[in-house]
Amino acid sequence: MRRPIGILAVVAAACLSASCDENLSTIAGPTPALTPTFSSIQRDIFASTDSTGRLACSGCHTSVNRVPAGGLNLTGDLAYEQLVNVASARKAGAIRVVPGDPDNSYIIQKIEGRSGIVGVRMPLTPPYLSDGQITIIRRWIETGAARN
Ligand code: HEC
Repeated sequence: MRRPIGILAVVAAACLSASCDENLSTIAGPTPALTPTFSSIQRDIFASTDSTGRLACSGCHTSVNRVPAGGLNLTGDLAYEQLVNVASARKAGAIRVVPGDPDNSYIIQKIEGRSGIVGVRMPLTPPYLSDGQITIIRRWIETGAARN
C-alpha cells in the first residue's frame, strides 16, 4: 500500500517544478507556445492571428489608425500599463487585471463572456479564446500578473 502513495508524492513534487508548465502546451490549443507570462500572452494571443487569420485582439485594441477600442491598447509597452491595476473604461468599479485574483479581473470576465459585463464577450466576434488559452491567462494573473 505504500508504493502508490510514494508515486503520487513524486508526481505531486514534479508538478511543483517546471514540468507542470510543460503540460500547459497540451491545453494551449491553437497557440502551443503559450505560457503564463505576460510576454507570451501578448505575443501569442493579443498580437497573434486566430484560426480565421484575423488579429485576435490588437487589430482593435491599438492606436494605429484608430482610437483603441474600449479605451484599451494591448500593443507594445502600453498593454501592461493599461491592464494591471487599471480601472475598466466602461464598467464602474471593475479592474482590468487584479494580481492574484483572476475571477475579479475584468479581462477574464470579458473573455469568458460572464454575466454582468458591460458590452459583449471578447473578442468582439467569434472565434473566442479556447478554455486552455483562458486557463493560461488565468494562471498568469493567479501567480501575480508579473511584467514577465
Ligand atoms: C473587432 C474588434 C475587437 C476585437 C478583435 C477585440 N476587441 Fe476587446 N473591445 C472591443 C470594443 C469595441 C470594446 C468596447 C465595448 C465592450 O466593452 O464590449 C472592447 C472592450 C474590451 C475590454 C474592456 C475594456 C474596458 O476597460 O472596459 C477588454 C478587457 C477587451 N476588450 C479585451 C479584448 C481581448 C483580450 C481581445 C482579444 C482576445 C479583444 N478584446 C478583441 C473591440 C474588440
